[in-house]
Amino acid sequence: MIIKSNIKTYEIIFSEAFSFIEELKELENKFIVIDKNVYEKYSSLFLCFDQKDMMIIEAIEDNKSIDTALQICERMTALPSKRNSTLISFGGGIIQDVTGFAANILYRGTKWVFVPTTLLAQSDSCIGSKTSLNYLKFKNLLGTFYPPDRIFIDNGFLDTLSETDYLSGLGEVVKFNVMSGRKNFNKIVSDIDFLTNRDYCLLKTYVINSLNYKKTFIEDDEFDLDVRNLLNFAHTFGHAIESVSHYAVPHGQAVSVGMMISNIVSNNRGLLSTDIKEQVERLCGKVINVALLPEYFSLEPFIGAMKNDKKRVGMKLAGILMDSDFCLHKMQDIEEDEIREALHEAKKFFCE
Ligand SMILES: NC(=O)c1ccc[n+]([C@@H]2O[C@H](COP(=O)([O-])OP(=O)(O)OC[C@H]3O[C@@H](n4cnc5c(N)ncnc54)[C@H](O)[C@@H]3O)[C@@H](O)[C@H]2O)c1
Ligand SMILES: [Zn+2]
Repeated sequence: MIIKSNIKTYEIIFSEAFSFIEELKELENKFIVIDKNVYEKYSSLFLCFDQKDMMIIEAIEDNKSIDTALQICERMTALPSKRNSTLISFGGGIIQDVTGFAANILYRGTKWVFVPTTLLAQSDSCIGSKTSLNYLKFKNLLGTFYPPDRIFIDNGFLDTLSETDYLSGLGEVVKFNVMSGRKNFNKIVSDIDFLTNRDYCLLKTYVINSLNYKKTFIEDDEFDLDVRNLLNFAHTFGHAIESVSHYAVPHGQAVSVGMMISNIVSNNRGLLSTDIKEQVERLCGKVINVALLPEYFSLEPFIGAMKNDKKRVGMKLAGILMDSDFCLHKMQDIEEDEIREALHEAKKFFCE
């Protein structure tokens, strides 16, 4: 799959049984960054790389920092060929964000190969060019747009993914299938149990479709100034859940909860039918770890987190709402009372 970008056109290559590693072995002047868990679980895969040109990073939000990005840059300046070097990174969104940032600032842009190892990174974050770092207690405060040159997706990595992280990735896949219209929505409703049971063959078709759907938005509006904003569906509410839970609720699961809250607001406004709202709730219920949730539905912290959202303009709250025709609408006029009602209703869903 080819993705057109204002920065550089790039390619996604689907690999089986880690065959892509043969190609990476041949690259000269490479520096490899690997998620610690991935390194430990797939150690034999990395034997072909020189230990001295390797950096192992624990995938925790604290490491998505300017310090880590600068360490990567420093280590890469020690490579013999400087500008002709390639950064290769293996991991999920955390490793992607910090290595993408480093690849962008070093020499104003270094070659970068990304191998996503979580379902979230494979089905969503690996394309779209966003790089982010956490700074001053703010998540994703610093960031740039910089895509990899090549992305290798191999679902062999998913075997070792925890249930929580697998369901988190599935949350984003569900979101793409809801927002992309009735046909895709009906399809995932009938396939969801196969997907939660890790039918990787079926999952691959969903990963490809999710990336193809996202591709249309990012190719039209890579810098998120217009139509790409719609991909933020479920995210304003989801970010608030992540923030209130201090990131105990993983991103894709928070997005599923965010989709439910957004749909309740939409239903209460008469935009979205109760039937679709309830079908989406049942779908989301399959990917959300219910035990994690009810305590995070307190109104004041939730509203506070929504008010802090980077994308908010004006005094009222912003969000993307879906209607009964599966069309998305960017709203800037959401009232606190609407959130109050929606949280109350969502809480009932999780407590019953
Ligand atoms: N740049 C973007 O466009 C974008 C989009 C969405 C999210 N993000 C960011 O991505 C991060 C979340 O990323 P994520 O959900 O992909 O996961 P992650 O990078 O946070 O990793 C989650 C856990 O899975 C482990 N892991 C990774 N691959 C594994 C494997 N194959 N087997 C076993 N364990 C494995 C990691 O070590 C970690 O413990 C957040 O920081 C979020 O802000 C970025
Ligand atoms: Zn997301």
